[in-house]
Amino acid sequence: MPTLEHIETEMLADTGSGVAEAARLLGAGQLVAFPTETVYGLGADARNGTAVAAIFEAKGRPSFNPLIVHVADLEMAQELGIFTPLAMKLAKAFWPGPLTLVLTRSPFCLASDLVSAGLSTIAVRMPEGDLATTLLKEAGCPIAAPSANRSGEVSPTEASHVFEDMRGRIAAVLNGGPCRVGLESTVIGFDGDTPVLLRHGGLAREEIERVSGPLALHTEAERPSSPGQLLHHYAPRALVRLDAASPRDGEAFLAFGESPHSDGPLLNLSPDRNLKEAATNLFSFMRQLDSQGAATIAVARIPEDGLGAAINDRLRRAAEPRSDT
Ligand code: TXA
Ligand code: MG
Repeated sequence: MPTLEHIETEMLADTGSGVAEAARLLGAGQLVAFPTETVYGLGADARNGTAVAAIFEAKGRPSFNPLIVHVADLEMAQELGIFTPLAMKLAKAFWPGPLTLVLTRSPFCLASDLVSAGLSTIAVRMPEGDLATTLLKEAGCPIAAPSANRSGEVSPTEASHVFEDMRGRIAAVLNGGPCRVGLESTVIGFDGDTPVLLRHGGLAREEIERVSGPLALHTEAERPSSPGQLLHHYAPRALVRLDAASPRDGEAFLAFGESPHSDGPLLNLSPDRNLKEAATNLFSFMRQLDSQGAATIAVARIPEDGLGAAINDRLRRAAEPRSDT
């Protein structure tokens, strides 16, 4: 059982024996971080309550914040949650891919109640990517996995990010290189027959609406039905200043489109103003600028359409003052 006692964290290569070892560790109730197309997840066998509890401990995550359960195929998903016709339509259109569906827990659901954090629902997702799929198949169980960062910090898009955050707290990291999408999945819930956007993410709202029709918007003011949607999430150490045209003295700058003149650290999310490229780079560039020690990271204005909505959502959270609790 992993505890906050220091444990040796193995870095496993993207090879047959690396995946086999990752699957073995999961089967033994250990925590293994693994790559998905969105970000690295911190995985545990979703059926093993002790292993799932260890995720919350390793991340320092409040236990009222439920976890996404990852599946290899639709059959595994249907053992966890009840698919309405609309949920099935969305799964067929977008899985495997960066979409999480919040479903009513099936009466046969074998996942620990802890993944649902006391709710009657369960969040399910079929990730894309050979490595995640092979791992899920070899482990032979649904894998509960939040993003593999310490709670409240920037999500990891490379194995080295996970290592920095979680070394000594988890059994292993399966290294699959950088994540293709770079932003967490879009989370959709259902209010009766109405689909509700619970979290902007790596699948653009417009794409989902082409299949589902209009999504109702979940606002912060409502009772949080997706409890992870707390502000001050995704926070780097530095302060974050949004919609900046250029850096002020001493600021690091995160550009989009044309780069302004800067004497300090500057990275450009996408010189061509490509939102997909910007999404892929966002967390990695925030980490790089943060590690250079500037007190403030100023960020260029990002358009709100397509993946821009998810990018701006993460940036606004990063810019929110952190609570010390
Ligand atoms: O792309 C992703 O979604 C990544 C990769 C690893 O799959 N995972 C991820 O997990 O971002 P996490 O735990 O950092 O975020 C999960 C989100 C949270 O906002 C949580 O509140 C919400 O999903 N969620 C999970 N279960 C839920 C439920 N039963 N009802 C409502 N929201 C739920
Ligand atoms: Mg997270």
